[in-house]
Amino acid sequence: MAQIRIDKYLSVALGISRTEAKILLRSGTVTADGVKITKGDAKIDASARVYVGEVKANYKEHIYILMNKPEGILSASTDKRVKTVVDILPENLKREGLFPVGRLDKNTTGLLIITDDGDFAHKVTSPKTHTEKRYFAELDGEVKPEFVDIFKEGVTLVSGEVCKSAILEPSGKHSAYVTVTEGKYHQIKRMFGTVGLGVNKLHRESIGKLTLDKSLSFGEARELEDQELRLIWEKS
Ligand code: URA
Repeated sequence: MAQIRIDKYLSVALGISRTEAKILLRSGTVTADGVKITKGDAKIDASARVYVGEVKANYKEHIYILMNKPEGILSASTDKRVKTVVDILPENLKREGLFPVGRLDKNTTGLLIITDDGDFAHKVTSPKTHTEKRYFAELDGEVKPEFVDIFKEGVTLVSGEVCKSAILEPSGKHSAYVTVTEGKYHQIKRMFGTVGLGVNKLHRESIGKLTLDKSLSFGEARELEDQELRLIWEKS
């Protein structure tokens, strides 16, 4: 496992600031694999057994956060002008290197994963893994039954890009669920554009078999459990 500074380790494991971690270290109560550590810049193995007094500090190399993204917030880590999904996380979930897994448009709502694990993010967003993303769309016109086959065959966007086969499930005269396995720029809006429909509202419901936690209000977030993460890869 990678080497990590002890102050960073403690800050992540205990949800405290690096300054607080340094104060803790100076108190002489921290050990890593039985060795007392007092300096913040000391490096330890990320798999070391770290204790603060008698209490074990549990460090996880990566964090996976589920957010119900609200409207008007940017899917990015930082931005000079507007608030991002990382800005609105509660302090106890914040750590360095967080970013959203794929992008939802500023006015799109729903399931968004935020992590610091680049390999995981790549796996979720790569079309090669065929990970299904399901959206609910409210449209400005009628969803005609023939659109189902058009989406299934793979829509060719105005740009000439060809989309993979998608599942369209009309759910009302002006609304539908759409499931795609890739994430081209503005993909759902552009797909509906090819059949003459504008998207008034877009909400992501699920990624793989991981569905949005209905108890999360817009803007709320919580850490994902390991068994929930596994749902992303579960095939039916
Ligand atoms: N497709 C879109 O058009 N917008 C999103 O936010 C996500 C998928």
